Amino acid sequence: MDHFQLRDGVLHAEDIPLTRIAEEVGTPVYVYSRATLVRHARVFREALSGVKDPHIAFAVKSNPNLAVLKVLSREGYGADVVSGGELVRALEADMAPKNIVFSGVGKTDAELLQGLEADIGQFNIESQEEGRELAAIAAAHGKIARCALRVNPDVDARTHEKISTGKAENKFGVPIHRAVEIYATLAALPGLDMRGIAVHIGSQLSTLEPLETAFGKVGELIAELRAQGETVTHADLGGGLGVPYKAGEVLPSPAEYGAMVARVTKDWDVALSFEPGRVIAGNAGILLTRVIRVKRSSNASPFVVVDAAMNDLARPAMYGAWHDIEAVKPSGAKSVSHIVGPICETGDTFAMNREMDTLESGDLAVFRTAGAYGATMASSYNSRGFVAEVLVDGDKYAVVADRLAAAAIMDAERVPDWL
Ligand code: LLP
Repeated sequence: MDHFQLRDGVLHAEDIPLTRIAEEVGTPVYVYSRATLVRHARVFREALSGVKDPHIAFAVKSNPNLAVLKVLSREGYGADVVSGGELVRALEADMAPKNIVFSGVGKTDAELLQGLEADIGQFNIESQEEGRELAAIAAAHGKIARCALRVNPDVDARTHEKISTGKAENKFGVPIHRAVEIYATLAALPGLDMRGIAVHIGSQLSTLEPLETAFGKVGELIAELRAQGETVTHADLGGGLGVPYKAGEVLPSPAEYGAMVARVTKDWDVALSFEPGRVIAGNAGILLTRVIRVKRSSNASPFVVVDAAMNDLARPAMYGAWHDIEAVKPSGAKSVSHIVGPICETGDTFAMNREMDTLESGDLAVFRTAGAYGATMASSYNSRGFVAEVLVDGDKYAVVADRLAAAAIMDAERVPDWL
């Protein structure tokens, strides 16, 4: 459930008509609903009520906006970060260092040190090589790094191939059949406190089966490690739960996910942590856009050219992803249209032959489910700026990221004096 609803014929974000945000802030603009973020955070926590003291680390990559992170830190969420930049954001949003987990296959030495100096809760080590480097850096600085070993369980998450992470051919984690040996090697190194296993098999999962299979393999691994005399006190089960992108689509609920986790992990005797991103932020945000013009060049469906483009919302161009598109002031008329952005490539297409609200020049529309992997994946392609972001809270709103004009991006460029 989200708080983007029609009231008196106008789509609102909580109590604010989107027409007002468009007038005052301009378009395109991302709009987030605080009440929706809070609701999703609580629903996910509640879903894990069958698990003792779950630790929940929001996947910052899904929406790194500081105000969004602050809302979630107030809900007691920690952070799953994958770069030094995300670590700085999580700390800036008052997430306690002990509630921060550092994932990612390519942490640099500088980033490993940054994590050690911040005294973060856990590093998820993705390779034997990374573990050795972290151990050396930690020992050199008189620190101990709390670590989990991320395993690759070779399970097909049955999601888009570009966001599947748990197959043997994917770059993530160590092969699960080598995990005992690598864990033992790393546990013997000074500087590391090897305390558990991490797993994350992919994103936008539409069925729980692959997760259950992967978790089952982790359970067997934990038993095997203990039988070999290793200590295992923690397990990080990653994120990945999908969300509906189409009205009426039904996916496994957080409650179903939580019940499965409780059942599969009941004998593990470890502290469990989770890294949800999309399920918290996805439906808590929309991208508000204005129709530039409607191009009718033949008898086929018209091209509705909107002022948002693939640089602002990359998912349709990148993964062929579907986002529901709705008029902010629907007239009730429906028709079949192509929805495209102004960028000079055919990939800048949000929808082809979509039966939807009829849009005319100047109308406002929204792309739904844009709160996760939306603004954060923007680029300045075609010398377009970065769009503004707004957070709504009841009857008030604030601009939580300024629009960054193309000229401001150009200001960072230099033409050498020998040209
Ligand atoms: N943990 C790790 C280690 C991850 O790599 C990810 C996402 C998550 C947690 C959060 O997954 P979530 O709960 O959001 O599914 N840009 C793509 C999604 C990439 C996901 C990358 N990793 C998209 O727009 O669909």
